[in-house]
Amino acid sequence: MKKNIVLLPGDGIGPEVTHAAASVLKECAREFHHQFEFQEHPVGGAAIDLTGTPLPNATVDACRRADAVFLGAVGGPKWDALAVGKRPEAGLLGLRQAMGLYVNVRPVKLIEPLRGMSPLKPERLGDLDVEIIRELAGGMYFGQRGNATENGKERSWDTESYSTPEIERIATFAYTRAEGRSRRLCSVDKANVLASSELWRRTVTAMSRVYPNVRLEHMYVDNAAMQLTLKPSQFDVMLTTNMFGDILSDAAAALVGSIGLIPSASFGAGAPLFEPIHGSAPTLAGRDSANPVGSILSAAMMLRDAFGLGLEADWVEQSITRTLAAGYRTPDLAAPGTKSIGTNGFMEILHEEMQRTLEHAERYGWGV
Ligand code: NAD
Ligand code: IPM
Ligand code: MN
Repeated sequence: MKKNIVLLPGDGIGPEVTHAAASVLKECAREFHHQFEFQEHPVGGAAIDLTGTPLPNATVDACRRADAVFLGAVGGPKWDALAVGKRPEAGLLGLRQAMGLYVNVRPVKLIEPLRGMSPLKPERLGDLDVEIIRELAGGMYFGQRGNATENGKERSWDTESYSTPEIERIATFAYTRAEGRSRRLCSVDKANVLASSELWRRTVTAMSRVYPNVRLEHMYVDNAAMQLTLKPSQFDVMLTTNMFGDILSDAAAALVGSIGLIPSASFGAGAPLFEPIHGSAPTLAGRDSANPVGSILSAAMMLRDAFGLGLEADWVEQSITRTLAAGYRTPDLAAPGTKSIGTNGFMEILHEEMQRTLEHAERYGWGV
């Protein structure tokens, strides 16, 4: 298989975790005889420094031509004083928009060897395996915004707005995803207060006739945040807006031990984009202490969901679980008083484990 992959390392720990994921994709190509071609392009603060804009046209053009795009993270204190639309984060939002990405899948699944790292007691945590389907192209992120001065005082606003077609296309994805899992869908909104949420709920409810096998439930976002902490394993697929999905996915990430573990995949009109859900973690940058797992699991999602390479994705995921089961942890996952390992050390062990997993699979078959 021949694929053209665009890498957008970005800022802070972005380059470290991107190169970790790329090394896994390269090993995959070698072992399974695929041809993956990589091109790196600047985005975010790195692109501001290089070209004056967080999203150069050349980067967008390369992403549009790619089979899949991989992004590390953007942002950092160096660029925090810039106006909202000129910051590194605007580059990421502009890219999602330019690529027509309206679906963002954020799977939050307990990796069994890390059960002890959850802030929840084991009986509360259960077998957490939830997929958060976050709308990615609308809502407050892309609504009308502005600022004005009224009687010498400033006022700024952002508008939350959704149309029926915008809700229908993301809900279609979520219903289909639920059909492929345990057929439970929880739609999260604030329909007791927001007009846009009232339309959201009405539209998602009307669509349940098309998916009679899926059990639909609605939940207000404040309760959903509480239920995630109280009894997270009640959820299977969660469908929600751009803003609520951003917040709930970070909260859910904490339940499995670290935000550094969670991958994501975004889909839309053209090439899909894969990125860990965490940010640029500026205090960790350059210190060999970023957790690369969320990034590598994003690469595994690329293999499975963009290229249809399920076996290769299983190989990567199993190797990560085995590495963690053997006790190797980056600092974010090390229990107090226990030893941790740096990003580079973790990657060395992971690559060895990938080789061992291959030998094991050749001898006994996959998944044994
Ligand atoms: P963050 O996700 O960067 O960090 C939150 C906390 O998690 C910090 O304590 C950090 O050290 C830790 N953390 C994050 N990723 C980790 C990893 N892989 N391994 C170990 N620990 C990890 O969020 P923040 O601090 O709110 O934001 C920092 C910058 O990142 C900001 O400029 C923000 O806008 C940007 N950001 C970018 C993205 C993205 O590019 N997708 C996402 C979120 C935040
Ligand atoms: C994320 C990030 C981004 C978002 C920011 C950096 C624009 O927090 O991907 O979760 O809010 O979507
Ligand atoms: Mn976020």
